Amino acid sequence: MRLVVHRDYEELSRWTARYIAGRINGHERGGRPFVLGLPTGSSPLGTYRELIDLHKRGELSFAGVVTFNMDEYAGLPEDHPQSYHRFMWDNLFSQVDIDKKNVHILDGMAADLAGECEAYEGAIAACGGIDLFLGGAGADGHLAFNEPGSSLSSRTRLKTLTPDTRIANARFFGGDPQRVPATALTVGVGTVMDSREVLVIVSGHNKARALQAAVEGGVNHMCTLSCLQTHPRAIIVCDDAATEELKVGTVRYFKEIERL
Ligand code: GLP
Repeated sequence: MRLVVHRDYEELSRWTARYIAGRINGHERGGRPFVLGLPTGSSPLGTYRELIDLHKRGELSFAGVVTFNMDEYAGLPEDHPQSYHRFMWDNLFSQVDIDKKNVHILDGMAADLAGECEAYEGAIAACGGIDLFLGGAGADGHLAFNEPGSSLSSRTRLKTLTPDTRIANARFFGGDPQRVPATALTVGVGTVMDSREVLVIVSGHNKARALQAAVEGGVNHMCTLSCLQTHPRAIIVCDDAATEELKVGTVRYFKEIERL
């Protein structure tokens, strides 16, 4: 696992967008599109802005890209202002040349939620698997909505959100945790781990404990981000603020590796 440390969020976002663009542009198609996993939340916003910029400058096209989002609240219609559908169209898809039929986001309103999750796994497999899964992390180290205690081999399914997550996300629901949906559909840890490459953004002081647990702690279902330690091609990209709880020696070591 690589840990790439940047000075601040802006630098981290620029680097992450350039990394993704490099992968998309370097993809040897052979008839297969580039399959990109995507998160919501504040962490990827800067990266999405940079990706849009690259697209506007003619340096990146999403025409040959298929996307799968990580998660979606259960019970929120697509056009709800806080649905992850809305988030993705507002913050990325409407401003790039992606074909709507290539966008996959779990349907939190499906009559058969278990069937929806199974079909999602099937759709990923039908595309040949995910080439690069971009992610963010919760302050408790959750990846997608794989809350502490989630099985490290889990697949796409319905999850109950922890009080911590509902409190953290209450800022999008008028500050009231009770208005945050209690459940969500999410890809599993196993789904993310099956991707050819995983890149997770960890930014800000409030993620410092999660980063410490994920990098210096053991692989642990109470911090699902830690599963990246066992992935053959995983990167955590973070800013200085998020490294606050890491040992000085740990940060120095990972920085040294990047310099080589
Ligand atoms: C939610 C999402 C995660 C996201 C996390 C952190 O719980 N399900 O995918 O990574 O929030 O969000 P933020 O980036 O806003 O801190």
